[in-house]
Amino acid sequence: MGRRRRGSEVDPASDGTADAERRERQSGLRRALRSQFPERSRDNLLPVLHFLQHEHGYLPEWALQVVGWHLRVPASEVYGAATSYTELHLEPPKPRDIVVCTGLACWQSGSEELLNAVLQQPDPDEASNVTTTACAFMCGLAPAVRINGSWHGRVHAERLTSIIENAPL
Ligand code: FES
Repeated sequence: MGRRRRGSEVDPASDGTADAERRERQSGLRRALRSQFPERSRDNLLPVLHFLQHEHGYLPEWALQVVGWHLRVPASEVYGAATSYTELHLEPPKPRDIVVCTGLACWQSGSEELLNAVLQQPDPDEASNVTTTACAFMCGLAPAVRINGSWHGRVHAERLTSIIENAPL
């Protein structure tokens, strides 16, 4: 069992390789944060979380510990911020990212059907992440769906299936 010392650091002498790698990653992140965000203020919490999201594609748990240490804010505050914004993710991204617009124009044009179709589609590899957005700002082309970063307008159920099947993983 690891012995705790300053902050969330774990004594490497009493832990395995995985913990040593984790410590190495945390040390690297500490250096990066000192360089990118030298002002260790809670005002930098959101910018730091966005920095991590950009660097890793999500917010790894080991990195959130470093953020708390660097900005001198409690872990509960870091996790609170990390879970309050839809653009921040605590899990690694899945290969297929599907966003269905459920704004008024899209809803009236059938996005509920599209959302249900996507959610009911078999996903044996659990490769799809399905989310919604309030408006994709392409209401004239409603209903709108984004697959792996590309928006598609005037989507109907059959076309949606084809778009998803042809989306690279
Ligand atoms: S409501 Fe869907 S794009 Fe605006």
